Parts: sequence; structure tokens; C-alpha cells
Amino acid sequence: MIVLGIETSCDETGIALYDSNHGLLSDALYSQIKMHTDYGGVVPELASRDHIRRVIPLINQALEKAGITKKEIGAVAFTKGPGLIGALMVGACTGRAMAWAWGVPAIGVHHMEGHLLAPMLEDQPPSFPFLALLVSGGHTQLVRVDGIGQYHLLGESVDDAAGEAFDKAAAMLGLDYPGGPAIAQLAAEGTSGRFRFPRPMTDRPGLDFSFSGLKTFTLNTVAQCQKEGCFEDQDRADIARAFEEAVVDTLTLKCRRALRQTGLKQLVIAGGVSANRSLRAALEKMVQGEGACLRYARPEFCTDNGAMIAYAGCQRLMAGQQESLEVAPVPRWPMENLEPV
Ligand code: KG4
Ligand code: ZN
Repeated sequence: MIVLGIETSCDETGIALYDSNHGLLSDALYSQIKMHTDYGGVVPELASRDHIRRVIPLINQALEKAGITKKEIGAVAFTKGPGLIGALMVGACTGRAMAWAWGVPAIGVHHMEGHLLAPMLEDQPPSFPFLALLVSGGHTQLVRVDGIGQYHLLGESVDDAAGEAFDKAAAMLGLDYPGGPAIAQLAAEGTSGRFRFPRPMTDRPGLDFSFSGLKTFTLNTVAQCQKEGCFEDQDRADIARAFEEAVVDTLTLKCRRALRQTGLKQLVIAGGVSANRSLRAALEKMVQGEGACLRYARPEFCTDNGAMIAYAGCQRLMAGQQESLEVAPVPRWPMENLEPV
């Protein structure tokens, strides 16, 4: 069965064609980043309008790349939530209507389940059960994954998500949105150890996170540097380095704790922040010490994309699940409420 995947939950229009027998056939992506940069973050109404402009041309592009026609599409998967309601509406309406017109089933996919399963598209996919660290712009969660739709939340951020903290700290350093890649690039030029940022909530038991304190710490450090007249390129790089090291250390420590607590031997990282090279390197080192292994998706499938939605949708469709004719996106949607497969 060939599944058309449509992702429109935030600022990327992602389309893909996934074949249950032959794997990923093609994918196409349009990122709205440039459009939102002037505003320092995603403007929901602009995002929705742009998804409308991009979605159909991208579907045609994906079909062309795969060398197939729309008649060969056996089902449509679209992101049903969580995300920006207007943006979700575009993908959900398009996907649901196309499936109806073509007489094929449709399925609404949970965006974070898509991220979580994206490493399944790689050559050495993880096998159930595994521990997953979901780190995106809106979520930071540690999840025990026993199967598709069998998610047990072990810990999560009590305030900002890791990606959100990257974005906010980047803005304080005068970097463009999205801040994650910008901080990572600047941090590579920075000197480790010049500034020491806290590792929030690591000195107490538990698997929850908090990143809003790091934001305040960044703000204070920036203010102090400006006061002392030392806010040049190298100073900003040193701050970026200290910030990134604090986030990476904190995530690594909590992952190690979760591996030990659960006895699981596979750690999967997913979501935009899992593209971060320093995080991957630190986790790789940590899992080796624990006799475990680390799995993640290729960088373009860590951030929002259509392939993860096509893949997750395909698994649910093959298990007989499908969407009614109603189009009802869910802006807030706990992943634990999903039906198991
Ligand atoms: O998963 P994603 O594309 O969208 C959401 O579902 O939120 O994640 C976007 C987040 C942004 O906050 C972005 O700054 C962050 O992922 N991000 C990174 C990197 N690439 C993207 N953070 C750190 N390092 C990166 N290389
Ligand atoms: Zn995402």
C-alpha cells in the first residue's frame, strides 16, 4: 500500500510517499523559516496561508519524484495534532478531502508519534521496547515505548521545551529563528568553561526537566557582558557554548537515569533538537558506558517532515485503523491517549 503523508502542524509543509512494501518512495518539503524570521518566531496566520499555497504543488512534486500517479495512492495520512490549529486545518482538510475523492482510507496522525517513529525509516531501526527522548520546539519528554501507541510517559518539561529554550536563548544572542541550529553553529566557535550554566533539576530524583531557568541565566549573562562591555562575537560564542553544554548535559543525565530505571538498552532520540550534533555525541558516549545503543533519524527527518507522518499513518492503517469523514484537528493532544496498534 502506498501512503501519501501530509505534515502541516507548524512552519513546514512536508509531503511524502511511503510504500509498505518498498519503504520511502519520495519526500518534499517547504520550510517557511524565511517568512517568519523577521518576526522572531512563527506567525500562525501566515503559516496557515502559506501551507495552502504549498501543499498541492508539493504533493505533485512528491508524485513526480516517486514516478507514480495519484491513482496508485492507497491511503492518505495527515497530521491531526498537536500543533497550530489553522496550520493543522490545511493538512487535515486537504488530506481528508483527497482521500474521500479518491475513494481511499485516511488516517489522522499524532505529530509526536510521527517524530518518535521517524528513526524506523533508517537502516538500523530500533526494536520495541525502547526508551525515547522527544525533544522538539514544543515538547521535551522521556517515554517508554512498548509498541506503536503503547507509550508510558516517564518525565517531561515542567515549563519550556528544550527547542523553545534554544530559540529564546538564540534571540538573546541576536541570532535568527530557529535558534537551535544557530546556537549550535555559534557554540562550535565558543570556549568551553568560560561560563558555567546550571543543570536544572539534575540534583534531585525524577525524570522531569525544566528549561526556563536557563533562559533567565542566559538573559542575566548577556546583561552582565553588555554592562562590562564584553559582548563581542567571541563572548556570544562562549555564551552559546555554555548554554548548549548545559542543555546537552541535562538531557544526557536524565536519559542515563531513565535507562538505569527502566533497564532498557535502546535509546531513541527524535524531534528537531535530536539533530544537534553535540547532543548526539554526548548521548553516544553515555549509552556506550551503559551497554546500550542510540538510534536517531537522518537530520532532515529529525525536524518536521512528511515521511514520518506517512510512515506512522501506514502502520496504523495496516492495523485496520482509519479516520471518519469528520475533519477535527486536535491542537493539544497527549500522546498517551493514543490507541495501541
Ligand atoms: O521537531 P521540530 O522541527 O518542530 C516541532 O515539532 O516543534 O523542532 C523544532 C525545534 C526548534 O526549537 C529548533 O530550534 C530545534 O528544534 N532545533 C535544534 C536543532 N535543529 C532544530 N536545536 C538544537 N540543535 C539543532 N541542530
Ligand atoms: Zn515537530
